[in-house]
Amino acid sequence: MSTARKLVLGIETSCDETAAAVVADDRVVLSNVVHSQVKLHERWRGVVPEAASRSHTQRILPIVDQALADAGVRAADLTAVAVTHRPGMVGCLLVGLTAAKTLSWVHGIPLVGVDHVQAHIHAALLAEPNLQLPALALIASGGHTALWQLEAPLRTRRLGTTRDDAAGEALDKGAALLGLPYPGGPSIEQAALGGNASGIDLPRPMLGPDSLDFSFSGLKTALLYQLRGPGAEQPMPVLDATQQRDMSHAYQEAVVDVLVQKLRRAAEQHPSRSLVIGGGVARNKRLRERLASDRVLARLQQVFPPLDLCSDNGAMVALLGGLQFDAGMTSDFDLDAVATADTGSKARVR
Ligand code: KG4
Ligand code: ZN
Repeated sequence: MSTARKLVLGIETSCDETAAAVVADDRVVLSNVVHSQVKLHERWRGVVPEAASRSHTQRILPIVDQALADAGVRAADLTAVAVTHRPGMVGCLLVGLTAAKTLSWVHGIPLVGVDHVQAHIHAALLAEPNLQLPALALIASGGHTALWQLEAPLRTRRLGTTRDDAAGEALDKGAALLGLPYPGGPSIEQAALGGNASGIDLPRPMLGPDSLDFSFSGLKTALLYQLRGPGAEQPMPVLDATQQRDMSHAYQEAVVDVLVQKLRRAAEQHPSRSLVIGGGVARNKRLRERLASDRVLARLQQVFPPLDLCSDNGAMVALLGGLQFDAGMTSDFDLDAVATADTGSKARVR
């Protein structure tokens, strides 16, 4: 492995994936190792912060070693080590931060703190290095749902965000009501196959004619009322397979409809040349189909990254870290874990 290449290690521990990857020259993913904690959190139907950070602590060193080994790179050869330092659960972020700072200190490698949402947006550049800009970006996961415009690498603008639940959270909570396993997005996608939504009336919360914000909490309540009627005293019915399939289909359609319509609105209000998606919900096939066949959105260059670059991963962190490194945006050892996202006009570091 030639040391002339730019080699960035990306470390990601903000939520329930322990991940590390090595990216060369901002374009070649040499390794991308992810350990998902889905099985661990299944019993609680959601991510329990304490359990998540403990699991990160157990996994982080083998995952980093694996990422370096898969890439055929020694830590000392790295150009920089990038790490997600926001947004996320602080106890989880601290695990990745400690690993990154230690590597940085021991090997004298520059440290780069990365914003997780910005990393999701920039992941499209790994999938399509010739991405046409400005790009409209939908980032939808269990923790965040927002529309952004990527004007240039490291220059982003938030156009809208969710006022309550994230899209993935709505799917996770909906799945619980439908008696489907956690995580809800993939289980609803699976259960919805061949479903028919006729006669099932679920809202599409749009928040006014021009809003680019989202609100998903009412949708989950509407599903609850569809299932058992309004009023807390009603028992939850047990659904047969057809009801479960049709309800899953109707619910997925409602979530996807809102995402597609908001993207159309955003494209009209903020002329863009391409459309990119990221976050766990961007794995959804129905969403991808609907975007590809949408009359307005199909005019844009559509970049739907491979599934492993949509959910949380270290490669997106390494890519953004590499871009920040080139721009001189490196971090000191006092780089802190921050629970909230950077909503500023730029993908700043600190
Ligand atoms: O980005 P991610 O892996 O983790 C964070 O939340 O940051 O996203 C997880 C979310 C969960 O809410 C999950 O239900 C949803 O993404 N998800 C999906 C699919 N796969 C994961 N939603 C819809 N369709 C999928 N295929
Ligand atoms: Zn994420």
